[in-house]
Amino acid sequence: MSKDWIEVAKADDIPDEGTLLVDCAGEPVCLYKISDGIFATHDTCSHGMASLADGFIVEGNQIECPLHQGTFDVRNGKAVGIPCKVDVRSYPVKVENGAVFIKES
Ligand code: FES
Repeated sequence: MSKDWIEVAKADDIPDEGTLLVDCAGEPVCLYKISDGIFATHDTCSHGMASLADGFIVEGNQIECPLHQGTFDVRNGKAVGIPCKVDVRSYPVKVENGAVFIKES
């Protein structure tokens, strides 16, 4: 069953090359703004209880976890740097009239 798009933020609220923690239907979701666009993953690192929104964008398209410096590709949630081995959930994103929507799928 497909689900509706949910408005979670204004695009301008996300800093360039930065992150924004939002709530999506009770789930913590991290938004990222990089040169490729705006992306979203679950906010909790798959390695431990760390908020990816507190991390740092590195290599242009990766989020570095603030706790043990594991990394994920923000475009698809793939774990790309140790100690992270399990992907984080990625969400489809669309931007309309300056508003950011994500879809639970
Ligand atoms: Fe994120 Fe360990 S909690 S790398």
